Amino acid sequence: MTEPRPLNIPVILGTARKGRASVHAARLFVELLNRRAGVTSRLIDIATVPMPVDDAGEAIKDPAFAQAMTAADGLVIVSPEYNHSFPGLLKHVLDSCLSEYIHKAVGIVGVSAGGFAGARVIQGLLPVMREIGLVTIFWDVNIGTVAKVFAEDGRLLDDAVIRRSERFIKELIWMTKVLRHGREQVTVDDEAAERPPAVTCPVCGMAMTHHADKEVASVPAVEGATVLSAHTCANCGAQQGIITSVTG
Ligand SMILES: Cc1cc2nc3c(=O)[nH]c(=O)nc-3n(C[C@H](O)[C@H](O)[C@H](O)COP(=O)(O)O)c2cc1C
Repeated sequence: MTEPRPLNIPVILGTARKGRASVHAARLFVELLNRRAGVTSRLIDIATVPMPVDDAGEAIKDPAFAQAMTAADGLVIVSPEYNHSFPGLLKHVLDSCLSEYIHKAVGIVGVSAGGFAGARVIQGLLPVMREIGLVTIFWDVNIGTVAKVFAEDGRLLDDAVIRRSERFIKELIWMTKVLRHGREQVTVDDEAAERPPAVTCPVCGMAMTHHADKEVASVPAVEGATVLSAHTCANCGAQQGIITSVTG
């Protein structure tokens, strides 16, 4: 029997700040993942992802980052807490991909100088993860008062963080396996047959993305008709409603 391909779970370091302490946490998670049989991990440092700041979204996709997201089966995001949220650059980089993330597992590690241990970062990231199609696990790792956890040179000062990471990693591996099995083995064709045809944007002609395929509530009302579904173009923002025939 052939060995299954290793689960590929890279770690995204979510800040480019000089002197960032989160890099130590990110490196630790790469190491902890690589210690697991059947798992491979590497660091993806957002400081090395070329990102223009005069545009946003898939228009500025970096080929190497997109390729890494396509190849990933699951992800760890290590994010510091900046003013009670995640760094804007992390969001900017994440926003540059979309279909690459769908039905893949993600676990979040929050890092902060203060005592809330990145809890607010994690809460803030959860809806973002959901919107881009990642599937969050129900374990997090919180690293508070980070200066007491890692020395400036990256040495681990408090190995309780390893114990606290155990269930997080186990759960992430399980979810990554399950979702990879689902992506490879479980068809959505039966559902697709019952769904309305894919939507092409009436304004820019962009092919459907999963955002365009999702229903939204805000299309103009048409008197005497019912809106069956409404779609937003991820490229130009145009909205299109599919309505029943107008009566009267
Ligand atoms: C712009 C900025 C805002 C910050 N806001 C918070 C905060 O709201 N709460 C907190 O505990 N630490 C805050 N910090 C401190 C970071 O959490 C701290 O630097 C920690 O080491 C993780 O970030 P780092 O990887 O950039 O070092 C902030 C740091 C910066 C640079």
